[in-house]
Amino acid sequence: MMDADSFRRALGSFPSGVTIVTTSDADGEAWGITVSAFCSVSLSPPLVLFCPAVSARSHEVLRRAERYAINVLRPEHRTLALRCAKAGADKFARAGFRTEGGVPVLPSALASLVCRASARYDAGDHSILVGEVESVQVNDGPPLVYFDREFRELSPAPLLAPPGLVDRYRDRPLCEADGADGSHAA
Ligand SMILES: Cc1cc2nc3c(=O)[nH]c(=O)nc-3n(C[C@H](O)[C@H](O)[C@H](O)COP(=O)(O)O)c2cc1C
Repeated sequence: MMDADSFRRALGSFPSGVTIVTTSDADGEAWGITVSAFCSVSLSPPLVLFCPAVSARSHEVLRRAERYAINVLRPEHRTLALRCAKAGADKFARAGFRTEGGVPVLPSALASLVCRASARYDAGDHSILVGEVESVQVNDGPPLVYFDREFRELSPAPLLAPPGLVDRYRDRPLCEADGADGSHAA
């Protein structure tokens, strides 16, 4: 049994980063949409996916786009994230996007991945768009986080492992890190 509110709350319990996915249409007009449904898929070939809602004004343009950029946001981009989550907003005014290879890219983003469209799937009221990554720009710093329908920042204290060293813990027995009662060892 599942009601719509429980489903939303369950999805909201999973934290994500926040991206703005951008493209240009055949007339050269820039399009952008705030997206948290972004996911890595494959290292070789390098594939990622994102899911735009069929109801989004930019859906058709994104679905047809041969190339698009996925810009991973920082905490200071939260106002821009809200602007790009508003249909009909002037999303590109004073935001600092630069056009690279015909696609708008946000140079201040934590990371930008320029993708060539690889696969397109229907998925209920969303599409799943898989892109092959052609180029990336990566900067240092913390991400903007979306959790429980709010923007958040990461706590600076890493749990269990220093940042980037999580792999070191991969082969340890689970019980070393996690108590049967759900408690976590320091
Ligand atoms: C934090 C956040 C995450 C979002 N994630 C998605 C998403 O993954 N997919 C989606 O279609 N819309 C998502 N949205 C909503 C769209 O950004 C919003 O519907 C936007 O108006 C679409 O723009 P458009 O109608 O001009 O295309 C998100 C909004 C916010 C604030």
